[in-house]
Amino acid sequence: MRLLIIGCGAIGQNLAKVIDTMDEVELFYMTDKNEARAQQCVKEYRKAKFISNTDESIRAHLKHLDLVVEAASQDAVAHYVPFILGFGKDVLVMSVGAFSDDVLREKCFNLAKKKGGRLYVPSGAVCGTDALHAASMDKIDSVELISTKGPKSFKDNPWLKQQGIDVDHLKERTIIYQGPAREAIVHFPKNVNVSATISLLGLGLDKTMVKLICDPMCDCNTHQLVVKGVFGEITAETENVPFPSNPATSYLAALSAIAAIKRIAGNVWIGI
Ligand SMILES: NC(=O)c1ccc[n+]([C@@H]2O[C@H](COP(=O)([O-])OP(=O)(O)OC[C@H]3O[C@@H](n4cnc5c(N)ncnc54)[C@H](O)[C@@H]3O)[C@@H](O)[C@H]2O)c1
Repeated sequence: MRLLIIGCGAIGQNLAKVIDTMDEVELFYMTDKNEARAQQCVKEYRKAKFISNTDESIRAHLKHLDLVVEAASQDAVAHYVPFILGFGKDVLVMSVGAFSDDVLREKCFNLAKKKGGRLYVPSGAVCGTDALHAASMDKIDSVELISTKGPKSFKDNPWLKQQGIDVDHLKERTIIYQGPAREAIVHFPKNVNVSATISLLGLGLDKTMVKLICDPMCDCNTHQLVVKGVFGEITAETENVPFPSNPATSYLAALSAIAAIKRIAGNVWIGI
């Protein structure tokens, strides 16, 4: 297998470390808008090669690739993913929040269908997506995502300021937002990936409800997914550990990308 990793940050580097050891991976390229970072990264891995971040360079390498992994940003999804899918190539997207843009999402989904490339979105920083997917094969009545974080995660949020909410002076656990995922994504872009993944799997951005709780006593990042439907009820809770090199990213998100690639490369899929 030959891969390209776009984005050499916390997730990209962690992924590179693991795929470098995989027998199924013959070689992989790495690129980043910070080219010096990508050039430095490839020195660490036996099978890694640097490529420049230009469209021409990526286009020239695409025909030799089996999978492109986006681990960069929502801008990178908007720029590269339609382009890659237009070539009928497979792409794994970490910055799934980009798909809260209806136009971009429909364009990418249609290109995948039309050109035959596969679009993979790992479960990311939340558990329970497997069961939500299964449940969505019949009627789902409600999907709610309850995320609890410490004040640091909400610091300098412009929408909270407008609402007159000062997270630094909260004395107890407080619901700071309750409403549809589409709105949550606009007001709290840092919570965007998990909300988008859950919405895409279940009831969509307008019917998936998000509750954000600020807990002044913790420095936590937990997600509780509550789904009700014909199947019964799911309550799935994830208590995340942040990445040392990027506290905004949960370690589980990187592990989910690794797990997805191992699954794509392998022949036995369990719990899909
Ligand atoms: N799906 C999930 O649950 C989940 C969880 C955590 C993070 N993420 C997302 O995954 C992405 C990567 O996360 P990370 O923690 O590794 O981020 P990071 O900030 O540590 O690294 C991102 C890297 O991508 C590069 N980059 C950004 N835009 C680029 C572009 N347009 N072209 C090329 N390179 C570009 C940056 O220079 C940086 O080196 C982020 O968008 C993040 O929001 C998703």
